[in-house]
Amino acid sequence: MPDLSTPTCDLLGIAKPIVQAPVSVVPEVIAGVSNAGGLGILQATWLGASQTRRRIAAIKSLTDRPFGTNYVVSLMGENEHADLDYALEAGVPVISTFWGDPAPFVERVHAAGALLFHTVGSAQEARRAVDAGVDVVVAQGVEAGGHVWGEVSTLALVPAVVDAVPDAHVIAAGGIADGRGLAAVLALGAGAAWVGTRFVMSRENRMHPEHRARMQAARETDTLHSSLFDIGWPDAPHRALVNDTVETWLAAGSPPSGERPGEGEAVAHHAGGEPIPRYSMEDPLESMTGDVTSMCMYAGQGIGLVNDEKLVAAIIDDMISQAGAILGSFGGD
Ligand SMILES: Cc1cc2nc3c(=O)[nH]c(=O)nc-3n(C[C@H](O)[C@H](O)[C@H](O)COP(=O)(O)O)c2cc1C
Repeated sequence: MPDLSTPTCDLLGIAKPIVQAPVSVVPEVIAGVSNAGGLGILQATWLGASQTRRRIAAIKSLTDRPFGTNYVVSLMGENEHADLDYALEAGVPVISTFWGDPAPFVERVHAAGALLFHTVGSAQEARRAVDAGVDVVVAQGVEAGGHVWGEVSTLALVPAVVDAVPDAHVIAAGGIADGRGLAAVLALGAGAAWVGTRFVMSRENRMHPEHRARMQAARETDTLHSSLFDIGWPDAPHRALVNDTVETWLAAGSPPSGERPGEGEAVAHHAGGEPIPRYSMEDPLESMTGDVTSMCMYAGQGIGLVNDEKLVAAIIDDMISQAGAILGSFGGD
């Protein structure tokens, strides 16, 4: 296996420059990534206190390696702040924030001995975050899956951010789904790749089978960047697969919230029977029933490169081997 470790890997105490974006709450995904030499990150915003405790304990029982927890700042209330404090008390070494101001988190995270990551969409924002004390900026390109903060593509954003914060660590996000993407962002000056969509489609991730089948079949042209699935998180652009909900809305002339086709109807149900309305921000879970492929299926444009489901360790090893071969082929002497 080629050694692609970077100064960012040294900072994080990992061997391979791959960070799993917070796209999963499944402990086997997060711990699997960390055990394979990358950094796994738990999507912690919506867990609540008891699940936060359970999932962190489960991850710790599966790995001794570093991992992180992630929070959407604009959606945090008292309970989510308490959950973050619990993660810090439990010794989670990396806290990642998204969608809001990271400054109020700096002292709190550092006082617990952890590192603070913050996701940005521009060079100016990266500079502001680093000036506030953020340790690692994640530069997220517009091709990313899930909620998308900025409007610049990864290829243009990453070098601009690297130039803006030469004293800081930069991790590249958006559209990185194989070793070619990893090699590319290392060449752009990133210290690691932040990979979401590819890990959504890992074998350990617990997905509804119909969701998994749609993701596997999707091409790079099959996603839409919009604010359509806004119930639960309004006015927040995101990228997801085009499905019947998206197509019907587009065919109706993309009407605003409140005037959209099928507004108010339930498309699926939670295991406990609670309805999931059309345009909900929730994505399909294994335990849900109903028309789950009418729900929001977050995916980046890199989904076109994801045509199989692999164990997380295989995803990482394949990315490292492929990137190593590419970077080695430009060898020089
Ligand atoms: C299913 C899914 C859920 C996501 N949830 C979060 C989240 O809770 N917090 C966050 O910071 N980013 C979240 N993201 C965005 C990722 O952190 C990341 O920026 C993105 O996946 C990178 O692009 P890629 O999907 O092309 O690899 C999510 C992305 C996906 C696909």
